[in-house]
Amino acid sequence: MQKQEQIVELFDQIAPTYDKLNRILSFGVDTSWRVAGIRGVLERMSAQSLDILDIACGTGDMLGLWTRLCAQFNKELQSLRGIDPSSAMLELAKQKFPQCEFIKAEAANLPIDNETADIISISYGLRNVIERQKALSEFFRVLKKGGFLLILEFTKREKGGLLKWCRDFYLSRILPKIGKFISKNQVAYEYLPSSIEGFLSKEELARELEEAGFFVVELKSFSLDISTAFIATKQ
Ligand SMILES: C[S@@+](CC[C@H](N)C(=O)[O-])C[C@H]1O[C@@H](n2cnc3c(N)ncnc32)[C@H](O)[C@@H]1O
Repeated sequence: MQKQEQIVELFDQIAPTYDKLNRILSFGVDTSWRVAGIRGVLERMSAQSLDILDIACGTGDMLGLWTRLCAQFNKELQSLRGIDPSSAMLELAKQKFPQCEFIKAEAANLPIDNETADIISISYGLRNVIERQKALSEFFRVLKKGGFLLILEFTKREKGGLLKWCRDFYLSRILPKIGKFISKNQVAYEYLPSSIEGFLSKEELARELEEAGFFVVELKSFSLDISTAFIATKQ
């Protein structure tokens, strides 16, 4: 089996316990990281009526927040679509957000027309995309001029020190144990820290975005650099 298929299968396996574990493992603060990223986009967005695509939507956390925050910003949601290659994740998202449209697809092959999205978001998903550069080109292709891309991700820490040690200890020792206890799937929760270590630093991801044609307008880190929001635009 190809590596990408194995990753998607892991998400199929952990889907039933994903929401519960997400809240426990991030101590509930992931919602504040998501809200800050979404606000950063909506504050810059001049269009009133929006077509939003959430890639690697999982069980749909971002879909609920886009709906709530668009209403707060008085934006009309023309369309809100969730895309993910995991059938089990999509099934849960459909139950939670029956008003949204869902598409089973990978980030690197989007069945979406050119320049049709005002906003693309991908939260904690890009790390899992093997053909990352191809996916970034797809995001650029699908986004309208003046549109925004929001990436939320755990990036690799390059500087050492106590902070890095604490984060690494939590990710490599504590998180897999809690993950295994609740999901009964140790492999999946060992994959998380290794996928972060194998991922890019903030600077490297910002460079890849620029290489794909984007202009990076904001790069904001949260909670001692654990999570970072990248906001980029297609000029
Ligand atoms: C950690 S979850 C994040 C889910 C959701 N965005 C969130 O913030 O809770 C990662 C998601 O990426 C999806 N995924 C894995 N490989 C992918 C790919 N090549 N393209 C798009 N999504 C992918 C998985 O199925 C999973 O739903």
